[in-house]
Amino acid sequence: MIQRPRRLRGNAVLRKMVRETRVDKSSLVYPVFVREGEHIREEISTMPGQYRYSVDSLPYKLESLKKAGVDSVIFFGIPDKKDEEGSGAYAEDGIVQKALREARKQFGTELYLITDVCMCEYTSHGHCGVLCGHEVDNDPTLRLLSKTALSHVQAGADMVAPSDMMDGRVLAIRNELDAHGFANTPIMSYAVKYASGFYGPFRDAAGSAPSFGDRKSYQMDFHNRKEGIKEALMDVEEGADIVMVKPALAYQDMIREVADLVEIPVAAYSVSGEYAMVKAGAKLGFIEEERMIAEMAIGAYRAGASVYLTYFAEETARLMDAGIIG
Ligand code: PBG
Repeated sequence: MIQRPRRLRGNAVLRKMVRETRVDKSSLVYPVFVREGEHIREEISTMPGQYRYSVDSLPYKLESLKKAGVDSVIFFGIPDKKDEEGSGAYAEDGIVQKALREARKQFGTELYLITDVCMCEYTSHGHCGVLCGHEVDNDPTLRLLSKTALSHVQAGADMVAPSDMMDGRVLAIRNELDAHGFANTPIMSYAVKYASGFYGPFRDAAGSAPSFGDRKSYQMDFHNRKEGIKEALMDVEEGADIVMVKPALAYQDMIREVADLVEIPVAAYSVSGEYAMVKAGAKLGFIEEERMIAEMAIGAYRAGASVYLTYFAEETARLMDAGIIG
């Protein structure tokens, strides 16, 4: 008799037993915005539930993350002053440097501290490097990025994450760190980073929208797949320890392709616009927030990410605790 193919059916215990994607909280990274000033916890209008913290109010947030089981953060700095060269990015008393020292002092090695390395929050024109005319000048920018990465590590960063997309920046940063005795400090590169409308709320949060033009000369065209693979392979060759795909939601094919191809961990960044979309939809009662968070997270992991950066890190951790995902 010809058997009819059948699918596995069963109760919740069985469904959990045979889950193909297993995740846990240690893979979560939470992005934190730090700004100058005191006693500040300022809500970001386009990202309800997300805040800019002054250094003194940072420990409360970090404590709550730790309690939820989220042990890794990535810092984004919002300086008071910007200039043409973005000198605040590598200043000894820069905002990220201060945040790192404070977090290290309060939490020792209990928190893993990552920093975003880029110039756009620090330049008066909002581009990711120094300009030559209206174009970002690649090689002079490498010097500034390397200086920034080194100053972050000297202030206590466990890992640096260049997000600028200049050519050769992973190698430049690797050489700079090695030359100063930080050969063991890993680099997570924003390798496959598309020019994306999903970054809108972030630029509002960090005040980093370009004052003219766009980032399309150094971020990738979202039509391109092979270009993404090339970027990932180049960064691996230059010495990246983790490669990231960003955004996550509309780019899960790229997460999968890169994860299949490279021998190092792949991170996915669920960016500000993904967060804002869920928040807005939920507020209007159009969607169920928790289920969206769960599916977006598992989508990224299922696609091959082993590190997941999300503004929903605490919520995701709670869903894992509750066994809804995990
Ligand atoms: C800095 C940087 C950006 C993001 C991370 N690092 C903004 C950009 O490239 O315009 C976006 C993160 C997010 O949207 O959550 N270059």
